[in-house]
Amino acid sequence: MFDSGFGGLTVARAVIDLLPNEDLVYIGDTGRYPYGSKPQSEVRDYAFQLAWSLVKDFDAKAVVVACNTAAAAALDDLANDLPVPVIGVIEPGARALVHATRSGRVGVIGTVGTVVSGAYDRAVAATRVPVVLTTAACPGFVEFVERGQTTGDEIAILADRMLAPVKAAGVDTLLLGCTHYPYLARVIGQAMGPSVTLVSSADETAFAARDQLGELGLLRPERGARAGEHQFLSSGDIGWFADLGRRLFGPELAAAESWIPPHRDADGQHLTGRADTRREPTR
Ligand code: DGL
Repeated sequence: MFDSGFGGLTVARAVIDLLPNEDLVYIGDTGRYPYGSKPQSEVRDYAFQLAWSLVKDFDAKAVVVACNTAAAAALDDLANDLPVPVIGVIEPGARALVHATRSGRVGVIGTVGTVVSGAYDRAVAATRVPVVLTTAACPGFVEFVERGQTTGDEIAILADRMLAPVKAAGVDTLLLGCTHYPYLARVIGQAMGPSVTLVSSADETAFAARDQLGELGLLRPERGARAGEHQFLSSGDIGWFADLGRRLFGPELAAAESWIPPHRDADGQHLTGRADTRREPTR
């Protein structure tokens, strides 16, 4: 599983809770975040590096793209290129959204990259549930989470401004279309008001992973299996990743390791990765 940083940990939580016997390798590309303001081509390159590293270096039997921006930029191409199933967050999120609404007025908030890509417009339309969708980009939210700031006046003021379009549209359900945003759910919920249901794609993505692995016969049998092992890597400061990761995720994130972006082979066709094994325990 990978994300630009800490956000995908919201999906990791759901996957670990649903599939406790599966091993999980999580890479947060904190050295190169944010993805949301970068061109799609650059995000796509990063997504390929991360996904191929998971397959080649960690022998992943499936890859979860726990980042909406990366999924918007590269999910279909990754699914065509990788030798393992690839699970994204956008389709599961869209499904959860249209199931949760009562009025049919729904909203999605995400990064600039995700919103501009139109991926949610397409995914919601593909559900064929007749809803009216309003999307809004929320630049700045991810940076607050990466700094470890999830409450306070500054975020509340930004949230009021960024959420104005979805509030004005009168949505009854709002999908947090960026995996970082569940960490800001309190502030977002306050800005939207108590009548608006917030939906995250984390649980629905975990169900999608379980279903896809199950159909392919790739799930570990539940009975008699050992508990899954969880490994956390970051391309940025691993001390910070372990510290903040533990605050956001919980005590299972006992240590973080360094992940170094891979390079192209001489033929330029394939990407190889290398995982450094330096470990940084939480303080
Ligand atoms: N968690 C990523 C997402 O779901 C955040 C992208 C970013 O780094 O801006 O889109």
